[in-house]
Amino acid sequence: MFHKSVLLKESIEALSIRPDGIYVDVTYGGGGHSEEILKHLKGGRLFAFDQDANALKNIKPGQQITMINSNFRYTRNFLKLYKAVPVDGILADLGVSSHQIDDPERGFSTRFEGDLDMRMDRKKSLNAREIINHYHEERLIEVFRKYGELTNAKKIARLIVSARKEQEIRTTADLKAVLSNCSDKSHENKFFAQVFQALRIETNQELEALKELLIQSVDLLKQGGRIVILAYHSLEDRLVKDFFRSGNFSGEIRKDFFGNPIIPLRAVNRKPIVADEKEIAENPRARSARLRIAEKI
Ligand SMILES: C[S@@+](CC[C@H](N)C(=O)[O-])C[C@H]1O[C@@H](n2cnc3c(N)ncnc32)[C@H](O)[C@@H]1O
Repeated sequence: MFHKSVLLKESIEALSIRPDGIYVDVTYGGGGHSEEILKHLKGGRLFAFDQDANALKNIKPGQQITMINSNFRYTRNFLKLYKAVPVDGILADLGVSSHQIDDPERGFSTRFEGDLDMRMDRKKSLNAREIINHYHEERLIEVFRKYGELTNAKKIARLIVSARKEQEIRTTADLKAVLSNCSDKSHENKFFAQVFQALRIETNQELEALKELLIQSVDLLKQGGRIVILAYHSLEDRLVKDFFRSGNFSGEIRKDFFGNPIIPLRAVNRKPIVADEKEIAENPRARSARLRIAEKI
């Protein structure tokens, strides 16, 4: 299976779909969420984005979807081109699909040996190998500290810089060998997961894209329209939570001249929706999922 959708029922309910509405699934992947949205539409339209060309192959014959092979940071441009603004709902199921992770060639997984690639969009020039072999030490420290939340980022960067002087660090296995003494055996899996997460976020500029999507959603949504986001790590979830609460990324609510709060969206739930034990048992990826919903005021 290409990808098992997470919190499927909950995220579709969260969109509160109007059959004749316009909806956007900005992370098509295996198409599980899109397929469910389509079931609720009658006379409405669905636009779907994915920056990975492979995802487009998952469209089923006869599916009424306008598919756009692009990063969702360009959602506004494309929807304007299609004269589809304003929209009734936007869904984002962030990160990578199981299909991407399980393909050793893509270099996303700590479990397989593969080239240090990690690009979701393989037309882009920046990949993880370029970052590892050419980023300045200071910049590497920042990537591992900020995106991997690693406390030994300095040591990691130092080891990489020293190893690459001898030989290019080409594969996921090369990188793991270079960093083999950075954590004790019992924490090794978590450590490498954080290292790979940091590299993936930097390679794909994931947080920048998410910020741009959130800002655009305010202009794109109809009054009462909904944005539903599934995040899989705290860096993403924090951005979503702060933006839904305050309309900016500091989380601080700004006020107008009369003291009225300037907030474009209303968070529908105070706490994120999480997967139950049954779903987690069937799909371990659901364990870290956080679903947040906001409505345009
Ligand atoms: C978790 S999967 C989505 C799975 C999908 N909801 C399903 O049910 O099959 C995330 C997908 O979004 C894509 N993606 C992630 N970030 C993106 C971005 N900034 N722009 C466009 N596509 C993105 C990835 O390539 C991947 O295919």
